[in-house]
Amino acid sequence: MAKRKILIGVTGGIAAYKIPFLVREFIKADCEVKIIMTPAAINFVTPYTLSVLSKNEVLIDFFPDAKSENDDKNNIVEVNSKTWHVNLGLWADIFLIAPATCNTISKVVNGISDNLLLTTILSARCPIIFSPAMDDDMFKNIVIQENMKKLETLGYKVIPPEEGELASGLYGQGRMPEPDKLFKLTIEYLNELKDLNGKKVLVTAGPTREFIDPVRFISNPSSGKMGFEVAIAAFERGADVTLISGPVNLSAPKEINLLKVITTNEMFESVMNNLDDKDYVIMTAAVEDITPANSSKSKLKKESFKNKFTIDFENTIDILEYIGKNKKNFKLAGFALETDNGEENARKKLEKKNLDFIVLNNPNDKDAGFGTDTNKVKFIDKDNIENIPMKSKREIADLILDKLIKL
Ligand SMILES: Cc1cc2nc3c(=O)[nH]c(=O)nc-3n(C[C@H](O)[C@H](O)[C@H](O)COP(=O)(O)O)c2cc1C
Repeated sequence: MAKRKILIGVTGGIAAYKIPFLVREFIKADCEVKIIMTPAAINFVTPYTLSVLSKNEVLIDFFPDAKSENDDKNNIVEVNSKTWHVNLGLWADIFLIAPATCNTISKVVNGISDNLLLTTILSARCPIIFSPAMDDDMFKNIVIQENMKKLETLGYKVIPPEEGELASGLYGQGRMPEPDKLFKLTIEYLNELKDLNGKKVLVTAGPTREFIDPVRFISNPSSGKMGFEVAIAAFERGADVTLISGPVNLSAPKEINLLKVITTNEMFESVMNNLDDKDYVIMTAAVEDITPANSSKSKLKKESFKNKFTIDFENTIDILEYIGKNKKNFKLAGFALETDNGEENARKKLEKKNLDFIVLNNPNDKDAGFGTDTNKVKFIDKDNIENIPMKSKREIADLILDKLIKL
């Protein structure tokens, strides 16, 4: 399954004792968890405990070279190119700062970045939630109240502290919610942010095979990667996804309805059976468009070829054209794989097949097209042409979904 990536920032408050329980909640829910602590936080909960529970190294300091041997025993890891602060802010789906001290909150709203956690917060691209926890009097302090308001104005999500008994022995507002509640609120917020929530998406992927006899077929080198990336991206953005794939060596998250087909006709039937109620249809499959006119039910014997073997071909059904012409309430994107006159051919295909937009790629481009992890494409709709430079297929998948949503 494509796991949700949760980054937790732990700061130096008493409520840090609840974080091991929170980490367990996320791990039980099959999330991937990474943790950054402030130097003050390690006085309240050990990095070792959090590292064991999260199954990941815990990051604390920028400058590992200055560490003593004792620090290493605390599982303080070296910051190198792999653990550079921006990486985690790009990696995470959501970043939860819990507990969030007055000190860290006040530094964030003033742009201070003098530890690894602050630097990661200020450079992160994912949504960030703060769960402030402090003594009642600190909470009521006008400066802290102002700073918490500023957090929200700046676009951060704040989970207000609850009222109850506080570690200081006082009663008042300042308690961090219990781990099960914090877990629930984080997941709910993550779901809210998904822009394909409630949408139904159909994706086709991979090649199809057309058989000459039971053991011989014609096909193409499509690996299915592009379609699987589109399906996984749509699923991670909250969509209910059906993925119809020809023969490939890939797996998909179990929540994706993966339907395996072999021939073009099987793909056509499967598409037709699953088209109703879809909001977005993305046809990435490299459908075999010719089939032997007379395929043999029994294996052809080598001797019968007599050194020369001729096959007559006919066209298979054009799935993309068929559904484009019978389009209902969905947006439809197709792919054009062209070696020559790409733009011209793609435009013709866009019009003829009644697509909302088409993704043009060229198998002769280096690191693009069949079997690669990257692609270089053009998005063409009736008004615009957009050049997308070389990117990972996952990045292109997200751009395709962005484009469909905008349309
Ligand atoms: C026993 C103890 C408990 C503390 N609890 C809190 C707390 O709940 N909330 C808070 O904002 N600060 C608390 N502090 C103060 C922070 O630890 C202190 O401001 C520290 O500089 C925070 O650093 P950090 O934000 O980089 O983690 C506590 C300090 C001590 C000694």
